[in-house]
Amino acid sequence: MKILHCKEYGPVENLVWEDIDSPEPGDNEVIVTIKAAALNFPDYLIVQGLYQFKPEVPFAPGNEGAGVIKKIGKNVTRVKEGDRVSFMLPYGAFAEEACTHEFGVFPISDDITFEMAASYQMAYGTSYHALMQRGQLTDHDEVLVLGASGGVGLAAVDIAKAKGARVVAGVSTEEKAKICRDYGVDDVVIYGDGPKDKDESKAFAAELKSKSTHGGYSIIYDPIGDCYTEPAFRSIGWKGRYLVVGFAAGQIPKLPINLTLLKGASLVGVFWGSFTGLEAEINQQNIADINKMLAEGKIKPLISETFPMEKAVDAIQMIGNRKVMGKVVLINS
Ligand SMILES: NC(=O)c1ccc[n+]([C@@H]2O[C@H](COP(=O)([O-])OP(=O)(O)OC[C@H]3O[C@@H](n4cnc5c(N)ncnc54)[C@H](OP(=O)(O)O)[C@@H]3O)[C@@H](O)[C@H]2O)c1
Repeated sequence: MKILHCKEYGPVENLVWEDIDSPEPGDNEVIVTIKAAALNFPDYLIVQGLYQFKPEVPFAPGNEGAGVIKKIGKNVTRVKEGDRVSFMLPYGAFAEEACTHEFGVFPISDDITFEMAASYQMAYGTSYHALMQRGQLTDHDEVLVLGASGGVGLAAVDIAKAKGARVVAGVSTEEKAKICRDYGVDDVVIYGDGPKDKDESKAFAAELKSKSTHGGYSIIYDPIGDCYTEPAFRSIGWKGRYLVVGFAAGQIPKLPINLTLLKGASLVGVFWGSFTGLEAEINQQNIADINKMLAEGKIKPLISETFPMEKAVDAIQMIGNRKVMGKVVLINS
């Protein structure tokens, strides 16, 4: 089988698509023939040694995918050879095969493509948890989503609209704004490269606030951090919840905490990975609701581009170049 190997931490272009022996399942494990795997921001960080987890080299990046069960261990009862499944892994999805515990795979129906099944688990899982459990979203809320055309951002837009909230999207370009408008956002702020100094930061905060019809947002969803966070926080409304999701723009921002006092507001951390383990039952309910909304056509995950798996390096580079919109999916032919 072939795998995208990270042999030492470093630039994305050092990854190699190479042959290794096919894995054998342990007693409770299954081997999946991978048909599709989705790209996520951590794929870009993990191979450079910049992510919070640093697997031993060599390893392959890739957290989520879908495929067909090729082989099962002798104690496996939940799935059988030939079943179509999606899966989540700590890493290793950018390959032709993956080995995982039987509880790490989830049967998928025949009417969903492998590409779609691979694409929405992490983005929609994260944004649903962020908005519903951490943000306490209702249809009375007004939500500002930063990085709104990216993987988790567009999922947040899609879910918040499906739940009846008013949504304002923050994005860097007109092309990205168009995608958000196609997803029904109520207004858009185009922030370019972001505010550079105090005056620009003040103007950005004022522009964000001017797009609120509630005198300030009740929920702000922030997967980008850096120079965007403080001005965005200044546009929050009374008792607003500021969801700290990620730092795609680079720096982890610092915030004067008097801003929380002035608005009676909360700064709320979101860590979907830990939530899935620590609150597995609630996560199952979230997944069930996401799948229901998908089946009813209330949400529509966007796959903007596909690449052959062996071209994964080109796809991963798109993240660093700020080019990803919705989801990018890698495919094994
Ligand atoms: N907390 C959690 O549980 C959790 C779960 C999943 C992901 N995350 C985090 O969420 C963030 C987004 O992940 P994703 O998979 O949605 O990534 P993505 O699809 O690449 O989207 C990232 C977005 O960030 C914005 N951005 C701003 N500055 C950027 C820069 N310098 N380089 C690249 N993008 C930049 C881009 O939108 P604009 O150009 O419009 O600004 C882009 O759409 C990451 O930090 C990731 O680690 C957190």
